[in-house]
Amino acid sequence: MADDFPDHAPDRSPDLSSRNPDLSSKNPDWWRQSVVYQVYPRSFADADGDGLGDLRGVTERLNHLATLGVDAVWLSPFYPSELADGGYDVADHRDVDPRLGTLDDFDALTAEAHRLGLKVVVDIVPNHTSHLHPWFQEALRAAPGSAARDRYVFRPGRGVHGELPPTDWQSVFGGSAWRRTADGAWYLHLFAPEQPDLNWGNEEVRADFRTTLRFWSDRGVDGFRVDVAHGLAKDLTEPLRDIGGVGATGEESLPRVAPGSHPYWDRDEVHEIYRDWRTILDAYCPPRTAVAEAWVPDLRRARYARPDELGQAFNFEYLQASWDAAALREVITGSLATARAAGASATWVLSNHDVVRHASRLMLPAGTDPGSWLLSDGRVPALDTDAASRRARAATLLMLALPGSAYLYQGEELGLPEVADLPAEALKDPVWEQSGHTSKGRDGCRVPLPWTPAGPSYGFGPGPAWLPQPPSFAAYAVEAQTGTQGSTLELYRSALRLRRKLLEGETLTWTADHPADVLDFSRSGAWRCVTNLGTVPVPLPAGEVLLASVPLGGSALLLPDTTVWLAP
Ligand code: NOJ
Repeated sequence: MADDFPDHAPDRSPDLSSRNPDLSSKNPDWWRQSVVYQVYPRSFADADGDGLGDLRGVTERLNHLATLGVDAVWLSPFYPSELADGGYDVADHRDVDPRLGTLDDFDALTAEAHRLGLKVVVDIVPNHTSHLHPWFQEALRAAPGSAARDRYVFRPGRGVHGELPPTDWQSVFGGSAWRRTADGAWYLHLFAPEQPDLNWGNEEVRADFRTTLRFWSDRGVDGFRVDVAHGLAKDLTEPLRDIGGVGATGEESLPRVAPGSHPYWDRDEVHEIYRDWRTILDAYCPPRTAVAEAWVPDLRRARYARPDELGQAFNFEYLQASWDAAALREVITGSLATARAAGASATWVLSNHDVVRHASRLMLPAGTDPGSWLLSDGRVPALDTDAASRRARAATLLMLALPGSAYLYQGEELGLPEVADLPAEALKDPVWEQSGHTSKGRDGCRVPLPWTPAGPSYGFGPGPAWLPQPPSFAAYAVEAQTGTQGSTLELYRSALRLRRKLLEGETLTWTADHPADVLDFSRSGAWRCVTNLGTVPVPLPAGEVLLASVPLGGSALLLPDTTVWLAP
């Protein structure tokens, strides 16, 4: 069963017969150990040639995901949006942006995904709308105190003439979280000013999102990723409280305030909303799944994943852990324990559209702020891309061996590094302007995918892409890596194929005896994963090598930054 590296060009058509029946049937637990692939639609594939990725592009490339061997595709927002925040500024939660396609295109995508045995997860953005949403436009025209304004959070300002924001609340993207309107009132936006926060104390808002959940579920969507899940419930009792010294955005300050006491993050009342949603999601067969995007500490995060709420929550502590055996072991043990206690399955993620890609991030020396590294255009420190790719592959094999569900971000299967040197004039992320150019933002992980080694946008579309791709992308193209022995893409394919065969139970047992820099655990006695995170080679444990993150060349040593999967 040695699968160290496939030495043949693999079949490009997906092997549907080998798909795990538990994942392709109506099994209500399909999500517990699934591998979900995040598509950022604007950067995936451009079928109509306008430089922006679109739904038809995704449909045409779904075969890539089926061949890769993932279980589900999660689509980041594709709804009508002026793209003030890359689509997370939604003007209509129940339609498709005309630049990305139509509802018919969405249905075609879902049908094709299901034909290929892939589940479909969509993003739902309940904390805010676009300022172009008809509700917000109506609110701007309406009088203070009107029903239209009550769907959002409007307040008079402080100061003699109301010229100061109502509180000191800060936007996650930088600056005050309040913006003044022409008539002198202020509205809340925890993100960009183009993203006014909804008032979840308003029954019409609640009812509208129930309609949205049913709308997409009725169209065949299998699950939802819930944006800013920890932000919906706010303490709006008068007078509104300042956050004082608890920190710029408040999220990073959560560990310093009493649980549930922050005026807008992670309040206990938010859980009523998800209990309500669960009754809607459970009315479908199989029940629709949901995963919370909640940047909150481990124990509090588990509450979002309770079976009567969303079922899963992203594990950002894992993503934020440095490449250090002790730190990772602690996060893994803690995450599994809290997920188990909540009755949820654990989740693991290394990259997404908001963070520096792990093929670059894990190489930054401990303590380096990825934001500062981006501001230096990736020059300080300069990264050795071969070493970075080696470490990223080791990290991926480690993640894919963990019990629970793994979320992959488009392009990581190609080993794409962060594009750290995008010129300022190319940047589209609102973070760049809103932070006063002190944070470059997230565009470097959103550069459109390379599919072919040549062409105006490396096969992304017939013309140039909306963000410039560096020439180095040619070598990372899907076509360049397909069938290439030792390529990152073939490693992901082998790993996902093997994972599917080996999956059993959700238990992990650490081996008792291992050097400090080695992580070594077995999965239900069926499969063992060993990673060397140190700087010196260690003896390769006994057992048949099923897969290695780099070819071992018959050596009896496990080199630094290497993971192996072993049969016992
Ligand atoms: C989290 C999303 O992942 C991010 O891209 C977005 O900017 C914020 N939520 C606001 O919607």
